[in-house]
Amino acid sequence: MKSIFAKKKVLIGVTAGIAAYKIHFLIRNLIKKGAEVKVMMTPDAQNFVTPLSLSTLSKNPVITDFYSQDGTWHNHVELALWADVLLIAPCTTNTLAKLANGLSDNFLVATYLSAKCPVMIAPAMDLDMYAHPSTEANLTKLQNYGNRIVPAEEGELASGLVGKGRMAEPETIEAYLEDYFYTSDYHSELKGKKLLITAGPTYEPIDPVRFIGNHSSGKMGFAIAEEASRRGAEVILISGPTALQPIHSKIKRISVKSAKEMMEEVFNYYEEVDVAIMSAAVADYTPKVVADQKIKKNDAEFTIELIKNPDILKTMGEQKTHQLLVGFALETQNEEENAKGKLQRKNLDFIVLNSLQDSGAGFQKDTNKIKIFTKDQEVFDFGLKSKNEVAQDILNLVEEKLKA
Ligand SMILES: Cc1cc2nc3c(=O)[nH]c(=O)nc-3n(C[C@H](O)[C@H](O)[C@H](O)COP(=O)(O)O)c2cc1C
Repeated sequence: MKSIFAKKKVLIGVTAGIAAYKIHFLIRNLIKKGAEVKVMMTPDAQNFVTPLSLSTLSKNPVITDFYSQDGTWHNHVELALWADVLLIAPCTTNTLAKLANGLSDNFLVATYLSAKCPVMIAPAMDLDMYAHPSTEANLTKLQNYGNRIVPAEEGELASGLVGKGRMAEPETIEAYLEDYFYTSDYHSELKGKKLLITAGPTYEPIDPVRFIGNHSSGKMGFAIAEEASRRGAEVILISGPTALQPIHSKIKRISVKSAKEMMEEVFNYYEEVDVAIMSAAVADYTPKVVADQKIKKNDAEFTIELIKNPDILKTMGEQKTHQLLVGFALETQNEEENAKGKLQRKNLDFIVLNSLQDSGAGFQKDTNKIKIFTKDQEVFDFGLKSKNEVAQDILNLVEEKLKA
């Protein structure tokens, strides 16, 4: 599938913050995805990163001043009109104040004032500078002018202090750019729709320190949540224990541990959603008794009695009113037969089959190979792809079904 960045013109303004080194990663990714990138820098930013490295990565000359050494001048109005989007990252406190107050004493801020395209600003500064009322007021002012702010993040700062102020990671900034391009030139059936997505494993407690779990990493469900959010859906992501964090800030993430907790949260939202995609690996059984204290070792054999967990997907199928319901099947044998049986028994609209027989598919991996069976007897067979691409395939079919 063609990247949303293909042929997009991205103008990046770099200012004199320590986070300037991170912008190289973003530029490299945008170029890889087919964007045209031009970079301009404040004079001071050259003390942090070189125009040479930025021009090499962006494949375009980098502008640092109004004038060239040969006596010609750079046309900031033309450059501003060239861009589909202007991103200022990192944006120092100093440049932020200039942007908010209409100063025009370097090429970057003059270009900002001439820009008619959307502008994104990713501030980066020490925690006290970020928390200062003047910074807050400048950010609010810039937002009120219609600029989009990519908020600074919490974490360790170059000063050694820990707090809010570090520039959002390159992949987060990229997600903001992606969001913008998706909403500006791509009509999705998912726009404004509510999606419920489950992800990850469940942990069934044995005692306060032990549980029965599985190898699910949550990567597939998170990839679907990111893609749906990118397409403009309102996403509720209910996830079992996983180290993953959603990148899109609009995703509502609810963390659960056991199947029972997942069931409760699913039914808190099920009635109000348009689509439910259930990719979590939910335990079928749970210990009948959970010990209050850690079970101590002794010489005897130890048996755990298991009872059945509630079947979340089946209950959803029974209570389905208007929702499009999508299930997952991870099988190790008789894959197709089992998946088709589940599709019917659980009253699903379609089921996504992945098999542990396929190398590159299944738990923990970054790739997956799926086959989809629909209630209308359709079969869609896909090759081995990244989980992000698989998420796109699944949501393309969801969109088709919503349209039908
Ligand atoms: C090592 C070093 C790191 C700095 N990091 C930041 C920073 O992260 N954010 C910031 O607002 N200012 C930072 N400053 C201060 C700016 O570089 C300074 O205000 C500069 O004049 C900003 O120029 P510009 O906004 O025109 O690029 C730093 C200064 C130094 C010496």
